Amino acid sequence: MPEKIAILGSTGSIGTSTLDVVAQHPDEYQVVALAAGSNVDKMIEQVKQFRPQLVAMKTKDAAECVVREVPSGVTVVWGDEGLLEVAAHPEATYVVSSLVGSAGLRPTLAAIQAGKKVGLANKETLVTAGHIVTAEAKRAGVPLLPIDSEHSAIFQCLNGEHPEDVVRLMVTASGGSFRDWTREELKEATVEKALRHPNWAMGAKVTIDSATMMNKGLEVIEAHWLFDLPYEKIDVILHPQSIIHSMVEFRDGAVMAQLGTPDMKVPIQYALSYPRRLPLATERLDLLKLARLDFRPADFDRYPCLRMAYEAGKAGGTMTTVLNAANEVAVAAFLKGNCSFLMIEEVVERALNAHIPVTNPSLEEIDAADSWARQFASDCMLHSV
Ligand SMILES: NC(=O)c1ccc[n+]([C@@H]2O[C@H](COP(=O)([O-])OP(=O)(O)OC[C@H]3O[C@@H](n4cnc5c(N)ncnc54)[C@H](OP(=O)(O)O)[C@@H]3O)[C@@H](O)[C@H]2O)c1
Repeated sequence: MPEKIAILGSTGSIGTSTLDVVAQHPDEYQVVALAAGSNVDKMIEQVKQFRPQLVAMKTKDAAECVVREVPSGVTVVWGDEGLLEVAAHPEATYVVSSLVGSAGLRPTLAAIQAGKKVGLANKETLVTAGHIVTAEAKRAGVPLLPIDSEHSAIFQCLNGEHPEDVVRLMVTASGGSFRDWTREELKEATVEKALRHPNWAMGAKVTIDSATMMNKGLEVIEAHWLFDLPYEKIDVILHPQSIIHSMVEFRDGAVMAQLGTPDMKVPIQYALSYPRRLPLATERLDLLKLARLDFRPADFDRYPCLRMAYEAGKAGGTMTTVLNAANEVAVAAFLKGNCSFLMIEEVVERALNAHIPVTNPSLEEIDAADSWARQFASDCMLHSV
């Protein structure tokens, strides 16, 4: 029986790579539901190729455009309710959570509560509400399988190991588009240049997060929740080639690393096929051609977003929700040309300094902190123009 898959965010970078993997293994995987925002043309193309039973779009207008072009047997829904329907589709056995931003939280929780296996790309889900999401997954007895390449690497290195033997995780970071720029040069950073990631082709938000290193900070928080380790045991190391996707050090001094060419189809497929491995058409790693791998420390002064993520993570409660929400607002403003690159970190820092955290927050308290941070960040930018 093929695994029946629902994809949240099918038109995005992770979503389309997931569908590439599915297309390589038609006997293993079948698409039953797809959800996306406003990319109507891509969704129509995907529906024609993969024939899902259910499709959700962000707005009624987008849903109506899709309905006109797809076979009559396909149900098309819209809005937040539509996302929840896709996440809990009765036939789906596996949900790929690849929306961008904290919009992914409720549908991912819905998938967990409906007992689906979850392939998790949407790191903001764990950053915003890690304690609730991991507890729900435990309660429902469903696995959260990491798709982020760093977390997939750690997950693979931990295979068959005992948690008490782990000394530390080493999360690798490419450094993003501005890794060789000085703080002074960052004052001139443009959207166009920020979007030119040296190693990975990804969605706009995560590409900007890579340039600020907030992405690595969010990944550290994600690793804390996924692998149940304190922040003191999670390090970040700059590795410009993105060949080692992350490492684990054990108490006997052994270090396990997972290597490969930078292609998200590899961790996506592993999350789908775990514990098995399937063949995959992808560029093979040629270490002799590469000849060298470089490493350097991730400096908190050069990358304040990374420092703030560690601080927010250690403070806990609603601090990581605020970190994430303020960052989402600032990045969206930067992408629209409404704030400078360096303003992103300033807005996040101001939001974190102004927030009075709630310990062990409920979902409602998380929503309230998220809304507060979004408003605070918008006001911040308005008053800085
Ligand atoms: N890309 C990567 O290589 C990569 C690697 C590791 C982790 N991740 C993580 O994976 C997640 C997705 O990243 P991505 O690069 O794939 O992002 P992306 O290319 O921007 O795609 C985001 C997807 O979410 C949909 N979407 C966004 N907001 C929505 C809403 N409110 N309602 C319904 N659909 C909505 C988009 O739909 P439309 O485009 O149709 O509007 C699109 O399908 C992020 O959390 C990112 O950090 C990504």
